Amino acid sequence: MRTSRRGAVDPFIVMDVMEAARQAEADGRHIIHMEVGQPGTAAPEGARKALTEAMAEDAMGYTVALGLPALRARIAQLYGEWYNVDLDPARVIVTPGSSGAFLLAFSALFDAGERVAIGAPGYPSYRQILKALSLQPLDVQTAPENRLQPVPDDLRTLDFEGLMVASPANPTGTMLDSGAMGALIDLCREKDAAFISDEIYHGIEYEAKAVTALELTDECYVINSFSKYFSMTGWRVGWMVVPDDHVRKIERLAQNMFICASHASQVAALAAMDCREELEANMAVYRANRALMAEGLPKAGFTQFAPPDGAFYFYVDVSAFTQDSRAFARELLEEAGVAATPGLDFDPVRGHQTLRFSYARSTADIEEGLARLKMFMAARGFV
Ligand SMILES: Cc1ncc(COP(=O)(O)O)c(C=O)c1O
Repeated sequence: MRTSRRGAVDPFIVMDVMEAARQAEADGRHIIHMEVGQPGTAAPEGARKALTEAMAEDAMGYTVALGLPALRARIAQLYGEWYNVDLDPARVIVTPGSSGAFLLAFSALFDAGERVAIGAPGYPSYRQILKALSLQPLDVQTAPENRLQPVPDDLRTLDFEGLMVASPANPTGTMLDSGAMGALIDLCREKDAAFISDEIYHGIEYEAKAVTALELTDECYVINSFSKYFSMTGWRVGWMVVPDDHVRKIERLAQNMFICASHASQVAALAAMDCREELEANMAVYRANRALMAEGLPKAGFTQFAPPDGAFYFYVDVSAFTQDSRAFARELLEEAGVAATPGLDFDPVRGHQTLRFSYARSTADIEEGLARLKMFMAARGFV
């Protein structure tokens, strides 16, 4: 049967690593998972309890396309709590994860063939979703001195209709401060390009508070999710904030593409927002793990990385040891029982020289993973 060219997107390599790790576990090996970009914890207890109660008395039919009004209002309230931004709930759209928000945003903002600039390294699915929608991803090679975030000088001479940024970013965990984000917003205004800010790792920040684009402008799309800070990856619920005059257009797209985000997940998400204690306990684990990684990676010979401001990753330059990060990750899995993600997922040009290590799992796992990394590198004479 015929197929489309735009459907021919690249695989998500981390999924292949996860499959290899699963296979190794099925063969009886003990694997430390530093590849997965998700919390090891469940949704907060209060969220699960709220859903159990709701299910006893609600048929859980479709919700309205923009999401449960109470959830939209609670998300708007979060902007007051986190950033002191007064946000109209009418601008909040509940989506099937931030992944669903990308589909809505790219469909609402761009016509076929238009170009969207994305920083490399960056979250791989931006590029693939753009391609699948007949849009052109424009990879912008970011510089280590800019902590692998795009800056206006990287973009000034390029033609594009949209710019997508992430702060904290995946895979680097680095953030854009208010000045850096403001400069990118100004450049987009000059170029009449749409500014889209992926803020999925907000809440998971260690020193400075992450800046939302909504502190700087209303003329932007902000995308967020319950997957990371709220520890609800598999629930598939996220949100997007858009300018007033875009809401109706998004509503029509959402009605037709998804009808609504999962009703059950919306109920759980609403309750999750008030489970502060449990969420902050998860943060204490990430904080401890980050400190262990910052100390342990250099001891294992991995010294080239920008210290992450947020999220739960270290993105490490391994060019001193290999020019084939995929093969290196395979050896790491086979010989040391540590799963890590080759950088090729995030940067097709330079990713053969990088690895991403996630520290989202338990502290005991991180300690064991670092010990195994050190042994693996010592056996090769790298430390
Ligand atoms: C930067 C970034 N954006 C979006 C996503 C997708 O998340 P969701 O579960 O909300 O679809 C991820 C997942 O890892 C991510 O790292």
